[in-house]
Order: sequence, then structure tokens, then C-alpha cells
Amino acid sequence: MPATPQTSDAANPDPLWIGRMPIHFFVVAVTSFAAGVAAMPFVIGDVAVFFYQIKPLALVHTFTLGWITAAMMGVMYRYVPALTHRPIPFPRMAFAQFVLYVFGVVGMIVHFAIGLWLGLWTVAIVVVISILTFAAEMIPCLWPSAGSGVAETGMLLSVCFLVLAAAIGLTLGIDKTYDFLGGSVLTNLASHVHFAALGWVTLTICAVSYRMIPAFLLPKEKLPPAAIWQLYALTIGVIGLGVTLLIRAPGVAFWSILIAASLLAYIFTIGRLVRTRRMPLDWTSRHAICGVAWLIVAIATGLVLTVTGADGEYSSRIAAAYGVTGILGWISNFIIGMSYQLFPGFVTRARTSVGWAPVTIAELSIPRPRPFVFIAYNLGIAMVVCGLLAGSIDLGVAGSAWIAAGGLVYAAATLWTLSFAYRSSMPSAVRTDLRILPS
Ligand code: HEM
Repeated sequence: MPATPQTSDAANPDPLWIGRMPIHFFVVAVTSFAAGVAAMPFVIGDVAVFFYQIKPLALVHTFTLGWITAAMMGVMYRYVPALTHRPIPFPRMAFAQFVLYVFGVVGMIVHFAIGLWLGLWTVAIVVVISILTFAAEMIPCLWPSAGSGVAETGMLLSVCFLVLAAAIGLTLGIDKTYDFLGGSVLTNLASHVHFAALGWVTLTICAVSYRMIPAFLLPKEKLPPAAIWQLYALTIGVIGLGVTLLIRAPGVAFWSILIAASLLAYIFTIGRLVRTRRMPLDWTSRHAICGVAWLIVAIATGLVLTVTGADGEYSSRIAAAYGVTGILGWISNFIIGMSYQLFPGFVTRARTSVGWAPVTIAELSIPRPRPFVFIAYNLGIAMVVCGLLAGSIDLGVAGSAWIAAGGLVYAAATLWTLSFAYRSSMPSAVRTDLRILPS
């Protein structure tokens, strides 16, 4: 399929370039991550008692909307036009989408925290409008490549899941005021959670990692063409599970096993790529591998929950541990790792597009704290998961403090990197004598 003809202007000769838009999203993402990890030691006690409460809901959406979804939108604004060779259709609308998103997400988090449902779903409407706008930017680029490119197909499906998850989330919020939905609160909630965390986030990560991990590790083996079937199996499993939970039909175990099998196929494929790599492991790959290890724990706890359900005292603690392994262990490790490569690259591109002095990715990175971030963050997750499972709030608080320590160091270093997209000055590392710039 030939690329759509592109327009260009004098100020920016690259018609696929979307300016600083990804960086704005990354700043919001990293700031939300910092806020979330800083709040965690104070909220983990509530999570340990019962995950379904107002402060945990606020914390969960600080991570899922503020950090994870914002980071993914930022990457997709750059990655989707570059991959599909099609410019986004409404570039002027992108900034409005960003503003609506930030306004709506901050409003949602505040209203979750104070437990005001009317206010919550009113601002959630703004987030849904912003998400629909985002879908209108992405789908026309991705649609023509559906079924051929593995990353394009996965992202197309995942954007649809984002719209679905947001619509269900909004409906759940409105239901708190008007009480029109039947069924169990926890199974309705689980439907929203699985469309969002598996359909939107995990599907995107699988799709994108099939392109990025080979690019970073240069494996001797090629990505098998069957990889696209893993994405289809995951999609079918998520639709089956989400609908089954919503309409309270039998079959939850069947769909859960299909999802688990598709994720094990993903892990197997990534494992082969990592084993046959030509490049040494760096902190990007270590975070990605650690994320996959947490995914295995999440699959195991998810299957246990399929049998036990999430109500009941011990099951609710397993559900909380499941959320931590999924959101912080699997998804966030992946984003942290990828950010080490992608964020400085986007900043260098943003600087050259406005004619500022070029800098290299190395000059924009602070690698020294990366081992500390990796160890503190993952040790903290392990402690929180053990604390939740063992019913020890002290262990949960201590683990959260480690997560906060690693997360805040990561956020400070990353915001420093991103700041160079907004100021023309050069990082101090530039003042070395033997400086080689990429051509
Ligand atoms: C516009 C977007 C969204 C809206 C309006 C929304 C709304 C909601 C609402 C109202 C609840 C509580 C449901 C109830 O009490 O029955 C909830 C729970 C939850 N949502 Fe969302 N949500 C959105 C996006 C997301 C995303 C993108 C994710 C994950 C990637 C996510 C993950 C969760 C989780 C894990 C819970 C359960 C948290 C807990 O029980 O502590 N949400 N959401």
C-alpha cells in the first residue's frame, strides 16, 4: 500500500514530525509517576485492607492514566506516523487533545481521591472526548496497514480497546450516581480493568516490543510471522473475558486460559530473541526482561483469581498483588526501560527541528543512577507483593518506600533529560573536548 502523499511546510521540512507533542505527554507521564510512587507508602495500607476504595482508585488512575497511558500516547504520536509513513490527519487537534487529557485526568484523580462521583464522571467525559480525538488521530494512519505489520495491527486493536475501556469506565462512574447497571460491582469493574490493562496496555506493549526488542538487541533469529497470531489470540481472549464478566456468562476460565496461553507464547518469542542477541544487555533490556518476569507472576496470580474470584479477604489481597505485579512490575518496568532509549532520542529530534545546537543521546542521559533505580524499584515491588500476600502492612509500606526511592530518582533524571526540549542550553557533558555528533 503506497504511503499517503504528505504535505510539508518551511518551518518543519519533515511532514511526519509532530513537534514537541510526545515530549509534553512524557513530562505529564513522568510527573504522574513521581506523584504516584511518592503517594504509595501512604496509600498501600488501604490497598492491603481492600483494593476497591477511593484512595487506591485515585492512585491506580495516577499510574494508569497519568503515567502509562500518557507515555503510550506520547510514543504513538511519533512512532505511528514514522512506522506507517502517514502523517496524523489533524495535527492542530493534537494539542487540544493533550490539554483536554491533562485537565480531565487531573480532575478524575482529584475526584476519586475525595470520593465525589458526580464530579468524577463529569470530568471523565472530558477524558473520553480526548481519547476519542486520539483515536481519530491514530486509526486513519494504522488502518491501511492492519493485518500486515505486526506493530501496526496490534496498535490499531489496542486503540479500540482504549476507547472501549474508557466508555465502560465512564459508564461505571455514572452508575454510581444513577444505579442503573445490574450485576456485581466487582465483575463489572474487572471487565473495565481487563479491557484497559490487557486490551489497551498489554496488547500495545506486545506489538511494540516485537519491533523494538529486535531493533535494540539485533538477534540472530528473525521474528516469526506467527507473532501476529499471538496478538489475535490475546485480542479474542480479552474480548471474550471482558464480555463474559459484563454479562455474567460462564466461560471466564476458558478465556483466562486463552489469554495466559497467548502471553506465554509472547514470552517464549521474546525469550528466543533475547537468547540470540548480538548486543550486550543494557538497562533498557534489563527492565524489559524484569517486566516479563513480573508478567509471569501476574499470569499466575490472574489464574489463581480465576478460580477464587476477587471477593473474600484473602482473594482481595491476591487481587491487590495482581494489580501491583501487572501495573508496576510488568507495564511500568517496560516503559522505564524503553524511556532510556526513546526519550533522549525524541529530545534530540525536537531540538534539531527548532534549529537548536544538536546534542547526542548520551549527553542527554544520566546513566549512573540506573542500577539503583532498577534494584530499588524491583526490590520494592517484590516486598509490596509479599506484604500484600502475607497480610503484612509494614512490609508493604517498606516496599513502597523502596519503590518511591527508585521511582523518584528515575523521575528526576528523566525530567532533566526532557527539559532540554524546552531550553536551548546544552547539558554540561557537552563541554568535553572529543565530541562526536551523529551525522
Ligand atoms: C477514561 C478513562 C477511564 C475511566 C473513565 C475510568 C473509570 C473508572 C471507574 C469509575 C472505576 C471504578 C469502577 C467502579 O467502582 O465500579 C475504575 C476502576 C479501575 N480502573 Fe479505570 N477508568 C479509565 C481508564 C483506565 C485505564 C486506562 C486503566 C488501566 C490501564 C484503568 C484501570 C482501572 C483499575 C485497575 C480499576 C480498579 C481499581 C481498584 O479497584 O482499586 N482505568 N475506573
